[in-house]
Amino acid sequence: MGATVVKPWCSTRLLGLPYSDKIASPVLPSSLPALYLSRLLPSPVMTVINQRFRLTASAQAGPPDRAALLAGLRQAEAMICTLTEAVDQEALDVAPGLRVIANYAVGFNNIAVDLAKARGVVVTNTPDVLTEATADLTWALLLATARRVVEGHQLVQSGEWGGWEPDQLLGVDVHGGSLGLIGMGRIGQAVARRALGFRMTVYYHSRTPLPSSPAQPWHHLPLQELLARSDFVSLHVPLTAQTHHLIGKAELRHMKPGAILVNTSRGALVDERALVEGLLSGQLAGAGLDVYEHEPELHPELRGLAQVVTLPHLGSATLATRTKMGLLCVENVLAVLEGRPAPNEVA
Ligand code: DGY
Repeated sequence: MGATVVKPWCSTRLLGLPYSDKIASPVLPSSLPALYLSRLLPSPVMTVINQRFRLTASAQAGPPDRAALLAGLRQAEAMICTLTEAVDQEALDVAPGLRVIANYAVGFNNIAVDLAKARGVVVTNTPDVLTEATADLTWALLLATARRVVEGHQLVQSGEWGGWEPDQLLGVDVHGGSLGLIGMGRIGQAVARRALGFRMTVYYHSRTPLPSSPAQPWHHLPLQELLARSDFVSLHVPLTAQTHHLIGKAELRHMKPGAILVNTSRGALVDERALVEGLLSGQLAGAGLDVYEHEPELHPELRGLAQVVTLPHLGSATLATRTKMGLLCVENVLAVLEGRPAPNEVA
């Protein structure tokens, strides 16, 4: 029998909340505001969208190609897009009636925000609602990498496991270790809170140190010192021109030998080639990656390394979270179209 193909939305289907082509609005003439929706969103969100908007193009499950995106934008007053769509000058040029772009993500590096603002187009994102889910997934990656969960799973599934052995798949201790967080915004702090349960020492590096308190016993450090002291380093900064390749050859060299790097933020924060070198040289014991420099591609050598755990950008991927993100996009769009301040306009 051939391998079962698991569609990314199958868990949603099992919950009886399908991502279904049937729920994409047909393009209907109406007095409702014209929305370009670049991708189908979870069905509770589609229900609201279909009630409140007229779609300029039928929403589709996969990413739109460039021509479809430009065509969809032409008549649009509002856009809800995802992180895979580049909203650049060309996209803004074709959409003179556009008033708001609601990005279905907290990160908004896919959007030319300054250009949009200069044209009076409001750009919004989805903070807060995805904080806890993303922090959970950061921990899933950290634990899976440190304790070799994927290798263990593969060994059992292969049928080649011969039973318990004293030195089988030995990992590294998470509890009592040191965790270095680069970026201490909402998600960084949510990751830090979880570290308390593991009795870890938490260091962080951010532009603005937090006020220290017994409930938040974390230590602000310069980047190099954080890298040198942390058993685990996790990235929680947005991708900007300043943070591109924040972790490169030099930074990886500063990391504690045998440390583990986790990235659930944006792939281009890390120089992937340098990361591969760091892993091959043994400087790093492993990496837990949810995001990649050139998604969905990854450096070919990351594919073959047992000490690397790779996920397909799942940080916010729970049904509840993705639904909240969609509803927040709708709320932001409606606010702008109704002349109210958008709750989540990006700075
Ligand atoms: C975000 O919100 O930036 C996430 O990467 C989307 O899942």
